[in-house]
Amino acid sequence: MNKGKVAVLLSGRGSNFTAMVRDSRKAGANYSVRMVISDRENAPGLRKADALAIPSHCLPREKFKDKGAQEREICGLLQAAGIELVCLAGYMRLVGPELLEKFPGRIMNIHPSLLPSCPGLHAQRQALRLGLKVSGCTVHFVDAGLDSGPVIAQQAVRVREDDDEDALSLRILRQEHRLYPHAIRLYFAGRLQIWGRRVIIAGK
Ligand code: GRF
Repeated sequence: MNKGKVAVLLSGRGSNFTAMVRDSRKAGANYSVRMVISDRENAPGLRKADALAIPSHCLPREKFKDKGAQEREICGLLQAAGIELVCLAGYMRLVGPELLEKFPGRIMNIHPSLLPSCPGLHAQRQALRLGLKVSGCTVHFVDAGLDSGPVIAQQAVRVREDDDEDALSLRILRQEHRLYPHAIRLYFAGRLQIWGRRVIIAGK
């Protein structure tokens, strides 16, 4: 089987990246993770890439004259490796026009809330402060906004009376590790169609 080529962009821990690699190595998986790019030198995700034998690159923003220059370098690496889908996984930057134009409809992100509720930083803390009874995670296509692109898949997680931020984050994270690989598999099965704001999952 010809497997879809995925690159992961991250800034930190890399647990979603690790979950993707594990899923991609299961029998029958239709994609493989070919590359990791971090914008932080000390990102633990880079060490995880080494341990999993995935090629990695570190392109910190401060090494470039502006965001456009950084993204042009990122695009060069992605294109040279024939990357078909870019997955943001804890990448702490808004994606700019350089990347969006080169990979239209081909960049995904995961966010630890049921968007459009609780976008941006500390989504789990926001959910607790708002007193939500249900939170969860969302995989969505990326546009120029903050956590604002068309939603591909969501998984609800109940907020418990005794939850603190760590406990809720951990239960959501476990669902993230299932939902993101699921969305990637749908993408490479050719089942995702973007109709304006809506993502239609074909064959459902
Ligand atoms: C995850 O909670 C993800 O939803 C958010 O950033 C966190 C990244 O975690 N965008 P990890 O680096 O994948 O462990």
